[in-house]
Amino acid sequence: MNTSLIILAAGMGTRMNSDLPKVLHPIAGDPMLVHAMAAGATLGPDHTIVVAGHGAAAVTAAAQEFDETATVVVQSEQLGTAHAVDQAKDALADFDGTAIVLYGDTPFVSPETLEDMMSAAEGADIVVLGFQAADPGRYGRLIMDGLSLERIVEFKDANEAELAVTLCNSGVIACKSSLLFDLISHVGNDNAAGEYYLTDIIALARTRGLSATAVTCPEAETLGVNSRAQLAEAEAAFQTRARDRLLEDGVTLQAPETVFLARDTVIGRDTYIEPNVFFGPGVTVESGARLRAFSHLEGCHVARGAVIGPYARLRPNAEIQENARIGNFVEVKNAVVAEGAKVNHLSYIGDAFIGSHANIGAGTITCNYDGVMKHHTHIGSGAFIGSNTMLVAPVHIGEGAMTGSGSVITSDVEPDALALARAPQVEKPGMARKLFEILKAKKAKLQRSS
Ligand code: UD1
Ligand code: CA
Repeated sequence: MNTSLIILAAGMGTRMNSDLPKVLHPIAGDPMLVHAMAAGATLGPDHTIVVAGHGAAAVTAAAQEFDETATVVVQSEQLGTAHAVDQAKDALADFDGTAIVLYGDTPFVSPETLEDMMSAAEGADIVVLGFQAADPGRYGRLIMDGLSLERIVEFKDANEAELAVTLCNSGVIACKSSLLFDLISHVGNDNAAGEYYLTDIIALARTRGLSATAVTCPEAETLGVNSRAQLAEAEAAFQTRARDRLLEDGVTLQAPETVFLARDTVIGRDTYIEPNVFFGPGVTVESGARLRAFSHLEGCHVARGAVIGPYARLRPNAEIQENARIGNFVEVKNAVVAEGAKVNHLSYIGDAFIGSHANIGAGTITCNYDGVMKHHTHIGSGAFIGSNTMLVAPVHIGEGAMTGSGSVITSDVEPDALALARAPQVEKPGMARKLFEILKAKKAKLQRSS
């Protein structure tokens, strides 16, 4: 069945108390809107329409960064969820399949639940995603007659009997696109909130003799974010689930509650993660790596057998190949550290290629930035870079070459050559003792006169 997504993301999110549109607040490194888009994307939709309003420019940028084919339509006045969905009508004019409405502030609806809805949509004209609420609070109530959904009553419009219903509306709806817009055209705003309620399409459909039903999911999936406190809860819920999934996938987390994962973190089996490791977006770690305590990784790839940290920082486009080692207080950005190479202490490696089995001495820095442009450093396989070498890029160190400690390397070094670029050592016999005597005499004189 062909699917299109309509993701509502126009609301202001007043209770966030923020300049940032609500749906752009991040959970696990990605805007919550992206979580909703990613879940929907698993259905392989023909079209993804994001309905933006408050902060539309920023919402557009975030939506299209995740999916450049996403269409953003702007709802300039927020007149209700039916009015919001109606903004997608023109974009879907030629679409002849099922539309699924998602909310940008409800990030955890699972791909499996969306699949269930698509299956149910084969047998009903409208499918609503409901959940049993521990506290139904202000949610809309699903009024069922057996398996048939008769109508949805909003909290503000519900009577006492309806308020007692605990089966609540998540907001997610699946309906044939043409029917959805047809029904919406008949929705009015004569209700307690004066809004055009999407939920009204159920009763409208039933009076036409069309069918509606509900699919249910665990309440955790329908968690909506309206405040910073709920954002923190959502983050915690995400982290707990992501850690549990890794443990099930055969990754060791020595102290799971101290490891923070991103939406898209991928870690292979038998990788060992020590306490306090942080993952930003875009990290892939292969099987059998070791991530030592207090390391910070984002946008990087770590191959099998590599050891990272403790206290290492891998930034975007760091590519750490098999059995390489990145030690304490080492930062790697946009660089390949090839198989078996070692950068063990206090280094900055940026815009560089470090050949296989090269050894980078403590304190080495690739001086990649001249104040205006970035330049590349190449280090050949098996090279030995002496401690505290400054590699002024662009520069090329041949295979098997060495640099002397403390060198400032500004020109290329041939394979197997030794490059020394530091002031020669001068030695003055007996001079230290003489200096000590002079200094001690000065100090004694000062103490006598005070
Ligand atoms: C809505 C449902 C309610 C359900 C609840 C689940 C309706 C009428 N009510 O209520 O049954 O239990 O969600 O959370 O649908 N939005 C727009 N444009 C608008 C209005 C809303 O984009 O004009 C977006 C909001 O940004 C939000 C979502 O739609 O992401 C839901 O809107 P909200 O006003 O929060 O609806 P609720 O009153 O919570
Ligand atoms: Ca809401």
